[in-house]
Amino acid sequence: MVCAGADLPLMPLPQTAAPETGQLEITGAFSISLVGAGAADDRVHGSLDRIFTRIQRQTGIPMQRRIVADNPAASLRIVVGRKDHKSPQRLGDDESYSLRVVNGQAQLSAAAPLGVLRGIETFLQLIQQNEAVAGQSKPGFSVPGVTIQDSPRFGWRGLSLDVSRHFLTVADVERTLDGMAAVKLNVLHWHLSDDQGFRVESKKYPKLQEVASEGNYYTQAQIQDVIAHARGLGIRVIPEIDMPGHAAAIVAAYPALAAGPGPQSVAHNFGVLTRLMDPTKEATYRFLDGLIAEMAKLFADDYFHIGGDEVEPTEWNQNADIQAFMRQHGMSDAKQLQSYFSQKVVKIVISHGKRVAGWDEILQPDLPKAVVVQSWRGQKSLWQAASEGYDGILSAGYYLDLMHPASEHYAIDPMRLPPASADQAATNEAAPAALTPEQRKHILGGEAAMWEELAVSENLDAKLWPRLAAIAERLWSPETVTDTDSMYRRLAITNRWLEYLGLSQRSSLVQMRQRLAGSFPRGPLDTFSTILEPVKGYERNSEKYLTEMPLNRLVDALPPESDAGREFSNKVDAYLAQSGEARKNDARSKQELLRQLAAWQKSAEDVRPMMQANGLLTADLPLADTVESLCRVAQEAISRLDSGSGDAKWKQEATSELETALRHQDDMLIRVAPAVQKLVNAVPGA
Ligand code: ACM
Repeated sequence: MVCAGADLPLMPLPQTAAPETGQLEITGAFSISLVGAGAADDRVHGSLDRIFTRIQRQTGIPMQRRIVADNPAASLRIVVGRKDHKSPQRLGDDESYSLRVVNGQAQLSAAAPLGVLRGIETFLQLIQQNEAVAGQSKPGFSVPGVTIQDSPRFGWRGLSLDVSRHFLTVADVERTLDGMAAVKLNVLHWHLSDDQGFRVESKKYPKLQEVASEGNYYTQAQIQDVIAHARGLGIRVIPEIDMPGHAAAIVAAYPALAAGPGPQSVAHNFGVLTRLMDPTKEATYRFLDGLIAEMAKLFADDYFHIGGDEVEPTEWNQNADIQAFMRQHGMSDAKQLQSYFSQKVVKIVISHGKRVAGWDEILQPDLPKAVVVQSWRGQKSLWQAASEGYDGILSAGYYLDLMHPASEHYAIDPMRLPPASADQAATNEAAPAALTPEQRKHILGGEAAMWEELAVSENLDAKLWPRLAAIAERLWSPETVTDTDSMYRRLAITNRWLEYLGLSQRSSLVQMRQRLAGSFPRGPLDTFSTILEPVKGYERNSEKYLTEMPLNRLVDALPPESDAGREFSNKVDAYLAQSGEARKNDARSKQELLRQLAAWQKSAEDVRPMMQANGLLTADLPLADTVESLCRVAQEAISRLDSGSGDAKWKQEATSELETALRHQDDMLIRVAPAVQKLVNAVPGA
């Protein structure tokens, strides 16, 4: 038995995989037979069409929808044990399956329909182009012989998607769902309401779409379509209405709910705004009861998310009535008032037949145990929730909007606390105690989060993919699957096939760069871009932006992570790790590094006329200069390392030239600058 780390082109990796003899050739005669008590399930049936469409897209081979009666000659035999009329899909529904490809035939078996959906995605990922082997190669595609047993590590594997800061269309959301299903995610947490817009039609409170959406909202019919699409893919849809903060849009529509003085308006700026609901008025709860009743019917899932994050209490502190209410009720601070609010809202949600989820701020004394706590301010809150008997999911460390590399997200595990930060060490903050096996059961999984301040339909895919696949693997695959090199190898493959699903994480950025290039050839800008990344975390300050500002500069047209830059940096590390003598003999590595540097240097020269001519790029001219000088310094460092000629003066000058390259410019960084610094440092000083 090969362990789950076997180098199959799969993401997420399965629990176990072992090679078998033979392979299944994919031809135009590909056929499926479907048997078992669960064969009539709508999701299983619907998935058959997807198989043919996907195979055709992945291979270019014309497919007919060939469904045959139970037949040992079928290319893929699907056996699904039991009918499952459960609707809606529930947390913990069986997703396990086994897939056996032996002697040219495949059998996918699952006890229940969801397992079939997960197994189909594995089968489709296994389709590879046949290798050319001299004299015996068969051009085309095949699935290798393999036996896979698989089931998820966590039952809650989600993506929290913000459609308030910038609206996303139904097509954007459905495309995202297709990608999620392909990497076995099973929860879409739909952040439908925030300061910048309320995005669902309400029949009871029509000003929510008339005023609070500013024209960008989903009709209830569209919401039902998305939920049906998600169900077909085995994905639950959980709505979030954020309250009592992040509520500027709601109070703009219904100012009587507001804690602060008017006039109220939908926000066009970003950040933690001060506009809050008034938690002391019974009218607020009557409104929420009506709204939650309507939304609870529209969204079939068991869970309903009430937000609760980032309540900035200025308006509560400045409102004399609210202050009097707090005194009357013996509340000494805003946290107690929020706790009062949360408890009332949790009761409302439960009264409409739902369970509750909320961001970790709602974890206050007296919070009912029926609430799932979503940990975003640090993993400690997940630990705290679990130790107090609350279910929890992890989002801290999985914020895709922060542009961190896949490796950083991949290293975050809901079941393992990260090492104490320097801040914690400095304040002597005690590490949370280890969880008991019983408490660990409260950790249900995690959700990646994609906040949309700096994203729009056009570059959404590039901000989600392929990094979301690495988080999906963390939440599905065994805890022992942690090899980052293997992850990156498979992520590159994943990045290619995801576009056959209709995702555009690579092609949309090409179009954006084409727009920047205008009438100039785009090639140099493409090459130049491969050395760059957007700055990380909150450094690209979204508070400088308004919702209506275009996101069409070079920084917007970059993937979060430079693959070429990472590979170059890894090569530099390997090159420098050798002894001086071995390095001198390693002409191949040296040539590879020099070839890459020459390409970047040439691109920096070639983008200049385009940058001088095109207004959206002129601010980046200094960056072209910096890249050129960086490449020159790197080439010289390699040459000096090779010859062993030390020169303290050169080193000093090179180091000061590098200062500019290490600095961030126009919200971008040069991914390889630290690697070049290592090359310079390695040059002998005298
Ligand atoms: C959050 O990021 N404010 C949940």
